[in-house]
Amino acid sequence: MPTTDDLLYARHIEQRRDQIDTLLSELGFDALLIHSGRPRNRLFDDQHPPFRAHGPFVALVPLPFAADCLLEFRVGRKPRLWYCQPEDFWHSPPAEPAAWWADHFEIERVGSAAGWRGRFGADRALAAIGDRHDLNDIGERVALNPRHLLHALGEARTRKTAWERECLTRANRRAAAGHLAAADAFRQGASELDIQLAYLQAVAQDQDEQPYHGIVALNEHAAVLHYQHRDAHAPAQSRSFLLDAGADEHGYASDITRTWTLPQHADFAVLVNEMDALQQRLCEGLRPGASFIDLHRQAHLGVAAILNQSGLVAMDPEDLVESGVSAFFLPHGLGHFLGVQVHDVNGQVDAAGEPLPPPERYPFLRLTRVLEPGHVVTVEPGLYFIPMLLERLRQSEYGRRVDWSQVEALKVFGGIRVEDNVLVSEADPVNLTRQAFAGLT
Ligand code: GLY
Ligand code: MN
Ligand code: MN
Repeated sequence: MPTTDDLLYARHIEQRRDQIDTLLSELGFDALLIHSGRPRNRLFDDQHPPFRAHGPFVALVPLPFAADCLLEFRVGRKPRLWYCQPEDFWHSPPAEPAAWWADHFEIERVGSAAGWRGRFGADRALAAIGDRHDLNDIGERVALNPRHLLHALGEARTRKTAWERECLTRANRRAAAGHLAAADAFRQGASELDIQLAYLQAVAQDQDEQPYHGIVALNEHAAVLHYQHRDAHAPAQSRSFLLDAGADEHGYASDITRTWTLPQHADFAVLVNEMDALQQRLCEGLRPGASFIDLHRQAHLGVAAILNQSGLVAMDPEDLVESGVSAFFLPHGLGHFLGVQVHDVNGQVDAAGEPLPPPERYPFLRLTRVLEPGHVVTVEPGLYFIPMLLERLRQSEYGRRVDWSQVEALKVFGGIRVEDNVLVSEADPVNLTRQAFAGLT
């Protein structure tokens, strides 16, 4: 009896096959090859960073850690997977293909890339996706990473199938359990490293399996947007904790941020609650036809209102945004597409492939499109006390509008970010992250 998962994946690959068939016919290609990638050692070293397969590959086969595999699509034919299982007594071989996904492919086992290299010399119109260093000898007449094809495959990935929605839902559930365990560790005064370990244990995934390097930031570290260290020593006093961490489910990512504090820090706790409320209001705006640039501007207006009402900046919220002052406190974008890559593709092009660069004043906005049903995006407004930016603000013509004593008192908390993963639908937006937390409490 096929399970629901089997059926969801079967429909996913069928839909993607149809799309690829149409594309290959339209673009005049006989075949499409998609490489999973190959680990690359550091210079003069025999060690490489943790391997993760290329996004275009993982979006079709649930093998996020399989190296040197090759997908081969030909119009009207069952796709072939050249499945690399090296004979190697140094490492565990890749698992046996599981029927629920493998039945949708002709599986061709090979011991190395040599097993598929040289097989495509006779093809006249071949497209291949991968790193040119890995595919340089794949064939004479190969179009490598052709722009139209890449764009179209990326477009398909922006509208999630039911299988992809299920994977993203589960990736949220996994990560939510980790966030609650991490918050407990923070309340017990644990170090960043111990919090990270508590997180991984609750998620039941090693760091190498995570979709990105989790941000585990106590106190002032929360002001570093992509803070990368995990201090092994707990600070004398832990006042605030920002955790930006996800989980993997068959290659699909969750990307969740929560900011925590302790009851004795009432002023900061008020700001956290206000940012949480703002974030939920923004999520409500994720409807088909909504412009993500407009939503980003609404996030700035919301942060500006908080800065104004708290007395941090004596400026009208509209002026705060128009003058650029709000950007000193919120220097990043509101969110991005999410999928097999944490910052998923096609966020800055329209459906026809025309570039949609971010507005000049918001250079870090990764998503500039109009939303459609099936999009899954993050919504992650923030409010930070970043010393470098505060110094620039102090020097600016608006410096005298800021209550610097209040800012100084808040700097020790670093900052706030609240980030959820939300599915845009024909009906109300579906907040995968809030649903995941609700299922755990
Ligand atoms: N975790 C990186 C981001 O939120 O975009
Ligand atoms: Mn994040
Ligand atoms: Mn994010």
